[in-house]
Amino acid sequence: MKAQMSIDPALISLLGRKLYSSHPLQIIVRELLQNSVDACKNIHPYIRIEVQTKKICKPEEEFFTIITCTDSGCGMSEDVLINKFLCLGGTTKSDGETVGGFGIAKAAIMSGIWWSVHTHDLYVSSKMVMNGADVKKTNYIEGTIVKVVLKGYIYSSDISDMTQMIYGSDVNVHFILKCFHRYGSSINEYEDLYTGLTQRKTFLTSEMAWVGSGVEPIKTPFSTIEGKTFIRFKNLVQFIKSRTYGSERKINLIVDFDSLLSPDKRDFPFSMSRESISNPDINVEVIKWIEQQDSDYMTLEDKFENPEDPCSRIIPGKLLYGNLILAMAEKDPEYALESELSSGKIVFSSTPTIIDQTLSCPVIQLMDYEPSTEREAELDSKYLLMWGDILSLVTPTNIPFGIGLVGRKGVLGAHTENEGVHFLLISPIVWKNHEDKRGLVLKMWARAIHEVAHYFILVHNEKFTSTMGALFSMTCNTILANIAIILRRLS
Ligand SMILES: Nc1ncnc2c1ncn2[C@@H]1O[C@H](COP(=O)(O)OP(=O)(O)O)[C@@H](O)[C@H]1O
Ligand SMILES: [Mg+2]
Repeated sequence: MKAQMSIDPALISLLGRKLYSSHPLQIIVRELLQNSVDACKNIHPYIRIEVQTKKICKPEEEFFTIITCTDSGCGMSEDVLINKFLCLGGTTKSDGETVGGFGIAKAAIMSGIWWSVHTHDLYVSSKMVMNGADVKKTNYIEGTIVKVVLKGYIYSSDISDMTQMIYGSDVNVHFILKCFHRYGSSINEYEDLYTGLTQRKTFLTSEMAWVGSGVEPIKTPFSTIEGKTFIRFKNLVQFIKSRTYGSERKINLIVDFDSLLSPDKRDFPFSMSRESISNPDINVEVIKWIEQQDSDYMTLEDKFENPEDPCSRIIPGKLLYGNLILAMAEKDPEYALESELSSGKIVFSSTPTIIDQTLSCPVIQLMDYEPSTEREAELDSKYLLMWGDILSLVTPTNIPFGIGLVGRKGVLGAHTENEGVHFLLISPIVWKNHEDKRGLVLKMWARAIHEVAHYFILVHNEKFTSTMGALFSMTCNTILANIAIILRRLS
């Protein structure tokens, strides 16, 4: 069969450049990775991406980038290679199971000055297509190797963007980077970087829905990525946004999309180049969510450093908000919640609130807390998140707060205030040797109510007791309805 295309390959490469606004390196790597992931769907996957920059000095200085993507996937028959891969718009994907489906990746791939595809025993290169030559028979390989060569100087920021694209995706890639050092001609080789981001949570969303989640900073060979928002489709990064100007958010955010729609459907969430969200309503919602994360974010670590209390430190994160709906007057130390409650002057929500456990990591204060082992710290952090869940059920909606651990002898809980933000701390003693987990939730609920009652009454007097009583009666149904969800933190 002739290796011919339905349109001029030069036109495709032109289109490839016009279609995308990001640097071709980033787009090509993204498209190759997507194709390999799709090809490895039903097979033990192996995907290897190698990016190498080269400088040629003679006859004149020129820079090249060679991208090689190897996979152990299903490979292509001659028919698929010619009629799908080499054909603009050609695709074998329509079931909503795959990441691809537009059939336009070749526009990016062919934007390189040279490319080749080796799949099973077939080989084709850009030169062969230009010359109208036959697809070549060659040695048999398991899957597919696609090689693309780009010409032109590559900035380290372009390499960094491409790296983030790989590292921000939930897929194992054997990633090899061989490139010039930023400031010299020496070559830095990063071999064997397996990007197994298994600690990442995957949210499968319903049709057209999206879910956001916070993640820890990602380490790459270049730098720590922070303050980024990874917009992903089926766990693969489509594009990356920076934090809102002026925000100091350090953690990264993930916005995951999944869709059973094929890309040609009107409601498909992404634009054709997948560098933006095409549905304006969803886009507005996503932007609103990111801005909210950015504005709520407390990173001013030193602002919270208490010189009088060097044993206390604050780990930046998101402020939590309570779920308890109270329509009431301003905070007043003389406020008797119970009498207001009985006189019907305040209202509260009696419907059980569902806890959103997908929220990013809350801001945490650690006071005299010294875990003896890593295992202990890990366990304590799970209980601490439970503490946050319980607090969110018993704290009024208008009060932002942070959580924390206090390790002082004889202290079971503490309430601190830093720059006007309340921190509700609990001692790990509360859960040490506590076998009955449901009972523990109730015990922590009682502690939470004690701390929350201090919003209203500072001292332990009669009014304080009655305020606690009011909070108990307001939240007992909610806590019972949420015990199972809260205990998920321990799994
Ligand atoms: N690495 C690969 N392994 C197997 N088949 C591939 C690979 N890359 C591309 N293909 C085939 O080529 C077709 C066109 O690829 P592409 O232009 O990326 O479009 P899409 O991924 O949107 O279908 C795919 O539908 C697939 O059948
Ligand atoms: Mg594709």
